Amino acid sequence: MLDVKLIGIIAGGLSVLALGFVSCATGPDLQTYFPPNGEARLVGNDTCEDCHLQQSEWFDQSPHGTMHPLQVQNDPDTDPIDLEVSCESCHGPGSLHAMASGVPSKNTIRNPADQPEICLNCHLDIQNQMNMPHHHRVVEGRLGCVDCHDPHGKDIFRANGTSLSLGRDQSCAQCHQEQTQNFVFEHEALREGCVSCHSPHGSIHPKLLTERDANLCLKCHAQMQLDDGDLRIGAVSHRFYLSQGTCWSAGCHTAVHGSNVNARLLY
Ligand code: HEC
Ligand code: HEC
Ligand code: HEC
Ligand code: HEC
Ligand code: HEC
Ligand code: HEC
Ligand code: HEC
Repeated sequence: MLDVKLIGIIAGGLSVLALGFVSCATGPDLQTYFPPNGEARLVGNDTCEDCHLQQSEWFDQSPHGTMHPLQVQNDPDTDPIDLEVSCESCHGPGSLHAMASGVPSKNTIRNPADQPEICLNCHLDIQNQMNMPHHHRVVEGRLGCVDCHDPHGKDIFRANGTSLSLGRDQSCAQCHQEQTQNFVFEHEALREGCVSCHSPHGSIHPKLLTERDANLCLKCHAQMQLDDGDLRIGAVSHRFYLSQGTCWSAGCHTAVHGSNVNARLLY
């Protein structure tokens, strides 16, 4: 796939030639990719750094910025330049933008904030999730990868959902206040993050759930089969409950995210 894309770029008159590619050891679907950008050529991170110091400083510590370097020959008459997975992997070749001192930027540089296909070109697995019947409508333009990911910084999972107390759910919270409010009876599951029950990009199950049935809950709440045939979850007999529907839809634990009235998570 990589070759096809580079050939595409060369055919586009950009005279980009890849020498001695160091392939990412990270899986077959993540390729180094430079979104085409008119007649512009690659200039390398150092040039971007001249004018965008802040993004460049952050980027050195970001997951993308610490990946394998690669060599790209921009012009047959000059030496090849070294690039990391570079600024231009996401923003496209930037020579015209740099020459115009950034102005007018909209026409000279690409921005994946509203072009998620740039990210998805490398992240095919995420693209598959985004194609599932239930998904955050990123491709449709309702929200962006950047609502949950910081593209330049160290913490690319700014919306990881790993720990409410650490505030890493902030980005889920900015759109889903009802589930992230302070409850009188909180469900401790949320401390492990929204992703313990939801697939953030997409799912085959409604409400982006990772499982559609009681297994969603049983992975943390072990069932105990007693000698007398009873089935316990916690201290409570669930022998006749589990057959009545899912734990949250059968009228038992309707307030899965937390409750202000009942410790057993009921509204
Ligand atoms: C000579 C200075 C200069 C260089 C070099 C430069 N930029 Fe810029 N860039 C600017 C300026 C100024 C703006 C803001 C223009 C504006 O606000 O419309 C800008 C804006 C941007 C934007 C925002 C575009 C938007 O409107 O969404 C991006 C992304 C960007 N630059 C990326 C890069 C990348 C990547 C490189 C290296 C390939 C680079 N820049 C090199 C000056 C520069
Ligand atoms: C993984 C893809 C990716 C890489 C690599 C990347 N950027 Fe960006 N960049 C983005 C996205 C996405 C945005 C939009 C951010 C937003 O709107 O919150 C952006 C926005 C920008 C902007 C506009 C101002 C801002 O922060 O929103 C500038 C300037 C910029 N990038 C420069 C750079 C430079 C310089 C590098 C290399 C050091 C770089 N980018 C590397 C994805 C990337
Ligand atoms: C040039 C290809 C390329 C582009 C474009 C790209 N990525 Fe990546 N991305 C990678 C590679 C390679 C990795 C490392 C994979 C790994 O470590 O498993 C990665 C890792 C990530 C990770 C996981 C980091 C971690 O620590 O596990 C996230 C999140 C991510 N990218 C989001 C984005 C977003 C959002 C965009 C668009 C703004 C984007 N990527 C654009 C290639 C790319
Ligand atoms: C920028 C706003 C925004 C952010 C941030 C956001 N969401 Fe959403 N979420 C939405 C919108 C809008 C929908 C409705 C579906 C759509 O249009 O994409 C939605 C739908 C959902 C649904 C499914 C609801 C249903 O009725 O099917 C779940 C679950 C969900 N989000 C969880 C999360 C989690 C977990 C996070 C953090 C990792 C998060 N969201 C971050 C805007 C957001
Ligand atoms: C609603 C918030 C949200 C949006 C929008 C979102 N992500 Fe994510 N993404 C997450 C969360 C949360 C994780 C961590 C998942 C985990 O820990 O299981 C993640 C993980 C990832 C990873 C790491 C691999 C993995 O599956 O865990 C990549 C790569 C990634 N996202 C890319 C993207 C790209 C590209 C986009 C836009 C097309 C995007 N994400 C949009 C919330 C989001
Ligand atoms: C213990 C598992 C679990 C955790 C953790 C969890 N959820 Fe949910 N969530 C559910 C279930 C189950 C539903 C479906 C409820 C229903 O259908 O009535 C749901 C539904 C939702 C909905 C859709 C609500 C609606 O009325 O349609 C949103 C939005 C949502 N969750 C966001 C979040 C966010 C944000 C987090 C992290 C702060 C989170 N969830 C953590 C289990 C969980
Ligand atoms: C990520 C792990 C995890 C998942 C998944 C999870 N829980 Fe929990 N839940 C906990 C923890 C931890 C507690 C607090 C300790 C305890 O009571 O076991 C808790 C407490 C509860 C309580 C309160 C018990 C009491 O007596 O106070 C109920 C009810 C509950 N969970 C229901 C559910 C339901 C329903 C689901 C599925 C939608 C679910 N849990 C999924 C971890 C989880």
